[in-house]
Amino acid sequence: MIYGAGVDVGSTQTKAVVMDENRKVLGQAIIPTGANVIKAAEKAFPIAVKAAGLHPQDIAYVVGTGYGRYKVTFGQSQITEISCHARGAHFLFPGTRTVLDMGGQDTKAIRIGPAGDVIDFSMNDKCAAGTGRFLAAAAEAAGLGLDEIGPISLKGTRPVKLTTVCTVFVESDILSYLVQGKKIEDILSGVHKAIATRTLSLAARVGVDPEITFTGGVSRNVGMVQALEERLGLKINISPDAHLAGAIGAALFAVEKAAALTL
Ligand SMILES: Nc1ncnc2c1ncn2[C@@H]1O[C@H](COP(=O)(O)OP(=O)(O)OP(=O)(O)O)[C@@H](O)[C@H]1O
Ligand SMILES: [Mg+2]
Repeated sequence: MIYGAGVDVGSTQTKAVVMDENRKVLGQAIIPTGANVIKAAEKAFPIAVKAAGLHPQDIAYVVGTGYGRYKVTFGQSQITEISCHARGAHFLFPGTRTVLDMGGQDTKAIRIGPAGDVIDFSMNDKCAAGTGRFLAAAAEAAGLGLDEIGPISLKGTRPVKLTTVCTVFVESDILSYLVQGKKIEDILSGVHKAIATRTLSLAARVGVDPEITFTGGVSRNVGMVQALEERLGLKINISPDAHLAGAIGAALFAVEKAAALTL
């Protein structure tokens, strides 16, 4: 059996996936990237390999992706996260035509072809406005965990209007709404709606064709899923593995490259 691995070193979290040549996911890891990007890659890879019941030397090919892909020092090649998320989303939902990847620092909208190939993409500028980092700052300002804000936002009936999704202002905005007596669920509902609006204006640059698949860590936030679906008027694909989509895509490339080498 031939094994390959994908290591997605994101700005916030590092993800690793081990796959066999039959495209079966055998092991995975998700850890914080932290300040040392090389260490993050070196740490995530063996966790996924161990979870697969394998040894590092069993892995024939490793593809690095994500913003830190060139720091995957043990990788044989690097592929952009745009290509890897496209490939991963297509693997999870073969009918995907649009991928929305919301990570810690970047939001990307990718239009893909029937084989999971990239047709076009758009990305936010070098600023974490309206991304996972913004949601993390909102959670902190509200004194809540990252995994709590989405479910609480669903209870909001009178969402507040946010004037900006700039991470610098989120704390003071939330505190001033709380001082005004607004309910936390209405504030958080407003937060998610504002991000959904921003995300879809970014996505409109490439065109949003169904099926739409949501990837990246923010896809775990049910409040964000609902806010996007409301704005789109469409259902979107989500999967428990969507946080790993970039690493899955990289692992798919890795097993293909490993198989080509053995021909
Ligand atoms: N359980 C969870 N519930 C809600 N949100 C979560 C959860 N886990 C992670 N997130 C969100 O996902 C974000 C990280 O996602 P991801 O790992 O895709 O980012 P990244 O790849 O490191 O960043 P980028 O692609 O921008 O470089 C965090 O900032 C957080 O907002
Ligand atoms: Mg990412």
